[in-house]
Amino acid sequence: MKLIRRIILATAFLSTCAIAQTGNVARTDKPWWNGAVFYEIYPRSFGDSNGDGVGDLNGITQHLDYLQRLGIDAIWITPMYPSPQVDFGYDISNYETVDPQYGTLADFDKLIGAAHQRHIKVLLDMVLNHTSDKHPWFIASAASRSNPKSDWYVWNDGADANASGITPFQKRYQHEGKVPPNNWESVFGGSAWQWVSARHQFYYHRFYIQQPDLNWRNPEVEKAMFASIRFWLDRGVDGFRLDAISTLFEDPKLHNDPELPGTNDQGDPNLRSQYSDNLPEVHDVMRRLRAVLQSYPGDRVLIGETYTPNVAELEKWYGGKEQNELQLPMDTQPGFGDGANFSANWFRQSLQMSQQVTGEPLIVFDNHDNTRSIDRFGDGAHNVARAKIIATLLLTTRASALTYYGAPIGMVTTTPTRKEDVRDPIGITGWPKQKGRDGERTPMQWTTGLQAGFSSAKKTWLPIASDYRTVNVQSELKDPESLLNWYHQLIALRKTEPALRDGTMQFLDNANNKVLTFRRNGPEPVIVAMNFTDFAQPLAANLASSHIRTLATTAPELQHATSIQGVSLPPYGVWVFKVDGAGDSAGAK
Ligand code: GLC
Repeated sequence: MKLIRRIILATAFLSTCAIAQTGNVARTDKPWWNGAVFYEIYPRSFGDSNGDGVGDLNGITQHLDYLQRLGIDAIWITPMYPSPQVDFGYDISNYETVDPQYGTLADFDKLIGAAHQRHIKVLLDMVLNHTSDKHPWFIASAASRSNPKSDWYVWNDGADANASGITPFQKRYQHEGKVPPNNWESVFGGSAWQWVSARHQFYYHRFYIQQPDLNWRNPEVEKAMFASIRFWLDRGVDGFRLDAISTLFEDPKLHNDPELPGTNDQGDPNLRSQYSDNLPEVHDVMRRLRAVLQSYPGDRVLIGETYTPNVAELEKWYGGKEQNELQLPMDTQPGFGDGANFSANWFRQSLQMSQQVTGEPLIVFDNHDNTRSIDRFGDGAHNVARAKIIATLLLTTRASALTYYGAPIGMVTTTPTRKEDVRDPIGITGWPKQKGRDGERTPMQWTTGLQAGFSSAKKTWLPIASDYRTVNVQSELKDPESLLNWYHQLIALRKTEPALRDGTMQFLDNANNKVLTFRRNGPEPVIVAMNFTDFAQPLAANLASSHIRTLATTAPELQHATSIQGVSLPPYGVWVFKVDGAGDSAGAK
């Protein structure tokens, strides 16, 4: 056992050394994840190696060459552990192996070995807030009040149905004269409390009923979860994306969350999660977890699912001055923030804010929980052109970047049109207001062939999107103007241009809502300009007028430009260029 662990650790160390040498510019002063491009894989939908219509681990391994060619640095695989799949893997019933429908532990070892060989790091999704209700811990905990696991989940006697102060919402969930102890709601609809007759008590579930919340005030829980984390670190995993991490703790006094006007998509009163989210205790756990990762070689990394309203809140996840919590909490503001829209002003303002954090920013526009950015920021007529701008924002900003399978080829959201086709439970309970998340989880489109090259099965778990004959890897690799080739070019530039990877970021022409321009500083500065409109636009007047060299552009006429004099940016045009002889290291972040 010890020997195996030593071999795994040695392999992890060797692969770190190799990474430091990839790219054209040697970089030894920063950990691998700084400035890295992460690629999220939803395993059900990436590659189906055994023809059962559901993706699997070998399906990921088979497509690693594609990922290497794309140039990404790391993959994050959403949960592939054993699970009843109520929330498609986010309801885990065993943290230390692989769900048989995705393969075996041996397949996982093969995957990580093959990825490391290609200098691709592997991150897993770690769901700390809750388990499946089929996890042996919960089965034991729910059986009685006196079993050894009785305090591993959040249990409560509830309130008397006739007590004063009980809200009409609580009254809807009455059992044997008891109602939930407060008004807390499940993110997925209904009360967050579920009655269990065997204990004559309610348990708390922030998400589905089948996802009971662990009691993180019990030190045994932390011990068990950290052991599972070590299990994967010992196997060579390079880090984790921490699921729903802000929800780990709840107010022990169970105060009601304040009510806001109106109701949500599930028809429940709107609440502000003051007492059920973002409790300060979570940061103690994060510090201890970071210490666990630090005890391993190879700069293992923690990414956080951190939907915060501003960067001040985000700062806490880095660990403030100490920087001893997550290395990469996600900055979801530019991509998903309230008021996000396709305008130069929105992105200038939100990306300027992203630059304010003391750690490395992590920018994200797409994931498995939100409609795809090509639809959110598209206008129906120029979606691919706009997607190239989103790609540029993602890949040329001073930040680590997180993309999602399908985004680089422009896969669209394919929302079910009939309730009976919906697979995501919130789409069933919320229909028609909330149609669920199936739309952004359809199978990856590889080829023009059968089932888009995803599977040989007659029926795939979600149908292949109808545009697969044109939107697929095979076709786009052949088309120099494709969105996929734009991703290729920009990812490659991050490796060859130190300014794009490490340079500070200075926004130019700040009053311009039509063109967004910024400069990445360094010995050889790079300017990025994007036209957000459907009309040609002049470049910023205050740009240096010296000799320039195009690094990448969506506009063929700019490919060989040597000066910005008299040049205008065509509709939705993007231009990334170098200004000769303008090197400096000054400039605002
Ligand atoms: C996170 C996941 C989401 C899941 C939820 C509960 O938000 O991204 O897919 O349903 O947590 O685990």
